[in-house]
Amino acid sequence: MSKIIICGGRKLDGEVNVQGSKNAVLPILAATILNEEECVVHNCPDLADTRSGFEIIRQLGGKVSFCDHTAVIKTENMKRHEISGELMCSMRSSVLFLGPIISRCGQAVISYPGGCAIGLRPIDLHLKAFKELGVKIEEVGGYIYCKADRIRPATVNLLFPSVGATENIMLLATVSRGETMIVNAAREPEIVDLQNFLNRMGAKISGAGTEIIRIIGVEKLKKVEYNIISDRIFATTCACAAACCGGDVVLRNMEPEHIRLIISMLKDSGCKVVSGENHVRIQNSERLLGLGKIMTSPYPGFPTDAQALFMSALATADGTTVFVENIFESRYKHVAELIKMGADIIVDGRLAAVTGCNYIQGAKICAGDLRGGAALVIAGLSAIGDTEITGIEHIDRGYERIENVFSALGASIKRK
Ligand code: UD1
Repeated sequence: MSKIIICGGRKLDGEVNVQGSKNAVLPILAATILNEEECVVHNCPDLADTRSGFEIIRQLGGKVSFCDHTAVIKTENMKRHEISGELMCSMRSSVLFLGPIISRCGQAVISYPGGCAIGLRPIDLHLKAFKELGVKIEEVGGYIYCKADRIRPATVNLLFPSVGATENIMLLATVSRGETMIVNAAREPEIVDLQNFLNRMGAKISGAGTEIIRIIGVEKLKKVEYNIISDRIFATTCACAAACCGGDVVLRNMEPEHIRLIISMLKDSGCKVVSGENHVRIQNSERLLGLGKIMTSPYPGFPTDAQALFMSALATADGTTVFVENIFESRYKHVAELIKMGADIIVDGRLAAVTGCNYIQGAKICAGDLRGGAALVIAGLSAIGDTEITGIEHIDRGYERIENVFSALGASIKRK
């Protein structure tokens, strides 16, 4: 099993190209199977999850080639409508293929999806919406059997603005007859990217980025070439590392607007942050300041995916920060590992109180989930001494060789 070894305490200096967005590429890969014509997708991050998406398309009978962050996908011969249990378990986003498979084949069979163990993560909102759109669903022996001769357009009111459910409904309704509306839709930038991709193929969708999305069904989609947006959580990871290690880091090829709140919080914690049209520069030479209270919430609020990243950065801040995790019920796996490094953190249910200490020390620690794992890398970079991180397969699900990103900024970090 590989490990990441870090000798911490160095300042970070230099430029980083922000990778394509993991959370945008996965629904877009699912969307390609709605289209019988060729789809060319640029700026795909080369991640374990992206490759799982390719495998699902291949298993369904499609063809995928992938080179230099560009995927060429052809599904004209797609015949199968089942995804194996193994691929379903490889990532949570496998569930996003459900809507497109039903749309394309009139039926689908999947098991429950896997992904990071950060809470119960049910898919009841997806299934309830699908039923409202005329899909017949039976759950037998851990498998979900779906059938729909025709999608019945409707207005779907989501009880919670679930990112995955919003995307799945958009995907199911794109090729249909009539108008479907999603009320209380998620507003994440990745939803807007999915809308842009679908519309580029000829779909008629509007409202993404607001809480009401309108999908006017079309009959057929056309050939497309598309560029995935940059990864705002990757950018946040680099920004948090620069903030707590100190230094001067420029994040290139990104959309500053997507991390507007993160930028203002980094400023509140004492960093100098300047953003341009598609770059952000973070400079810091002082100890960070605690941020009082941070509550995770749907976009445009503070992202749950950034909670662990900020916790590592603020573990050595001057003052206390209380985190309130409102999205996932067990997303504090990284805390036990940060405590091993000397961090002062108390968890009570969905609350975590972090009292900044003067320094944290390197330790042998284990990543238990994707963003928690990236948070441990940030902690290792800012700690005194050596840190050894196992469980890095979780980190590889969302970051392209994270050790290369930080060694290019002057950190002592390698994979062994
Ligand atoms: C997506 C992101 C993930 C991010 C999350 C919240 C991708 C690939 N992943 O995950 O990185 O952390 O949004 O911003 O885009 N829920 C239900 N029933 C459902 C669906 C969701 O109860 O049918 C609950 C979940 O358990 C969770 C909350 O709603 O507590 C948010 O989930 P959701 O917004 O659906 O997140 P994902 O799409 O899984």
